[in-house]
Amino acid sequence: MRLENKVAIVTGGGSGFGQGISELFAAEGAAVVVADINGPAAVAVAEAIGEAGGRAVGVQADVTKRSDVAAMVAAASENFGRLDILVNNAGAAHRNKSMLEVSEEEFDLIYNVNVKAIYLAALEAVPLFRKQGGGCIINTSSTAALRPRPGLTVYNGSKGAANIMTKSMAVELAPEKIRVNAICPVIGETGLLETFMGVPDTPENRKKFEATIPLGRFSTPADIAQAALYFAADEASFITGVCMEVDGGRCI
Ligand SMILES: NC(=O)c1ccc[n+]([C@@H]2O[C@H](COP(=O)([O-])OP(=O)(O)OC[C@H]3O[C@@H](n4cnc5c(N)ncnc54)[C@H](O)[C@@H]3O)[C@@H](O)[C@H]2O)c1
Repeated sequence: MRLENKVAIVTGGGSGFGQGISELFAAEGAAVVVADINGPAAVAVAEAIGEAGGRAVGVQADVTKRSDVAAMVAAASENFGRLDILVNNAGAAHRNKSMLEVSEEEFDLIYNVNVKAIYLAALEAVPLFRKQGGGCIINTSSTAALRPRPGLTVYNGSKGAANIMTKSMAVELAPEKIRVNAICPVIGETGLLETFMGVPDTPENRKKFEATIPLGRFSTPADIAQAALYFAADEASFITGVCMEVDGGRCI
């Protein structure tokens, strides 16, 4: 098992990519704090992991609130005695539409969840990593940061910021043996799919988007979880500051 004796937090772990990451990490031996603004969803994912023989606890946490983030990080220490891996995966998006139709409230929410939350989680987790002599942070970014689609300008900008935060944190925290990497998924089969497409989720509309991806399909939670597993495992001990496309060739 590649994550034996490690402890991870996965935000947005109650569904989609975060659920996939939580389940794979647990199957690879990690104890997982599944954190989500949707508390019951987080608890359900953690319970299913427990029933499958893994170790997990579900916590309700809004990643844009410092007090919730502090409690989420404390949950790792209290339940499992340490923290090795922080996955900033929770995300918010606006429906595909003109940037002129995006409200200020939507803008603030998207930047708070996709960018500020990375900073808030670092405030709480980095001191713990320092005490332990190192750690690993993984941010779920997007191909939106690298090859933006029209109609998603505000979301695209937030993921661009997430990529630069990833690289800047990687150089700033490297002396303390804290690695920071990002995953850039192409459009995937999760709760956010219809938001990104901006049109109903029909087979015809799916085909149009799939046609823009050289390998001809959407990303899945399993694809993203495998990339996260690589970054989290000791095999990647010399890998930091990488924003890796998991995109079937979309960004080429
Ligand atoms: N689905 C895609 O097409 C796609 C593509 C590229 C990147 N992403 C990114 O992947 C990540 C995961 O999204 P997903 O596609 O699995 O969608 P999803 O909607 O299935 O999962 C997102 C989870 O984040 C949680 N969440 C939202 N706001 C939160 C907050 N303030 N605090 C805590 N949890 C919160 C939600 O409750 C939900 O469980 C996001 O960062 C998203 O931007 C998604």
